[in-house]
Amino acid sequence: MDVDPRFILWAGIAAASPLAIYLLHWQFFMSANVCKSLELLIGKTILITGANTGLGKQAALECAKRQAKKLILACRNLQRAEEAARDIRKATEFQDGFKTEIVVMKLDLTSLDSVRTFCAQVNEQEPQLDILVNNAGVFRCPYAKTEDGFEMHLGVNHLGHFLLTNLLLNLLKKSAPARIVVVSSFLYKQGAIKFDDMNCDRSYGRLEAYSSSKLANVLFSCELSRRLKGTGVNVYCANPGIVRTNILRYSIPLLVKMLDYVVGMFFQDVTQGVQTILNCIVSKELENESGCYYTDCLKEPIIKSAKDEVLAKKLWEYSEMVTGLAIQREQ
Ligand SMILES: NC(=O)c1ccc[n+]([C@@H]2O[C@H](COP(=O)([O-])OP(=O)(O)OC[C@H]3O[C@@H](n4cnc5c(N)ncnc54)[C@H](OP(=O)(O)O)[C@@H]3O)[C@@H](O)[C@H]2O)c1
Repeated sequence: MDVDPRFILWAGIAAASPLAIYLLHWQFFMSANVCKSLELLIGKTILITGANTGLGKQAALECAKRQAKKLILACRNLQRAEEAARDIRKATEFQDGFKTEIVVMKLDLTSLDSVRTFCAQVNEQEPQLDILVNNAGVFRCPYAKTEDGFEMHLGVNHLGHFLLTNLLLNLLKKSAPARIVVVSSFLYKQGAIKFDDMNCDRSYGRLEAYSSSKLANVLFSCELSRRLKGTGVNVYCANPGIVRTNILRYSIPLLVKMLDYVVGMFFQDVTQGVQTILNCIVSKELENESGCYYTDCLKEPIIKSAKDEVLAKKLWEYSEMVTGLAIQREQ
């Protein structure tokens, strides 16, 4: 029987394409590496922003599993934070050895007043802070401004965390060796810092605003690590990859819901997605590194614009000015 060679070609393509899609999906969406460190966090106090859900909650759970002394879940909604704390306590209740103390505290990054009140409480109550994880974030939200008039992505993802970190620095220095983990995104590569339109009053693109805030995260962590040289406080910038969390809440929610199953197949779940953040929190191998960017638990070179020290310094000075930190320093 003669078989048309075109039929064989198309049959071959049809048979191979599911495999090709599967391999592509691993190549682009899935993290190949996991945190290999078995290090425990005994005696450590760890503060995580946005810890009531997604990557922040998973990071908190991993820290509890590694027997951290105390976890502070810094969240804007106390009820959701209490529920997360309950889940983490339950998930670790049969664990041998030490039980982590978990406290929830109110922090709304859309309000600089809230950040100041929060930091004053932490500085007053906590004798030590070993690890700060700047995780909370918003993604592709409709155009909105924070209480202080900043564009939402800039305000929450960068400026709120900028003030928070600076107000907790003395406590971190006192607790050295200490770590600051800044959660950024590979989308920082699409970002740009436009000093003439920081709050997007002239033009606004949701993805652009998010990407720019994530570039600000990278510039901030590089500049912070330069400023903290010799203090024993190291800075790590983590890119979790693409992870299935509530972050897509503003991105066509109905369609995403309908495609839940399909989306689920292609994205990492939080246990995979948290690995790079966890590695930055615990890995002893990173103890002599600071100011680097990590993907898939590995150091990744950053692009030219994120390496620009002049830009990073300018962003720092802008951030100090608009958050009132510069005035506070002068007083
Ligand atoms: N998921 C991904 O694919 C992905 C990829 C790259 C980077 N990231 C980064 O990973 C981090 C965590 O994201 P996720 O995926 O876990 O998202 P998520 O599930 O949406 O969690 C975000 C967290 O941030 C909190 N948050 C938002 N606005 C806040 C505010 N004004 N004050 C205090 N907390 C606030 C949220 O609190 P509520 O629950 O109260 O809203 C929530 O706890 C973000 O920085 C994000 O940019 C995520």
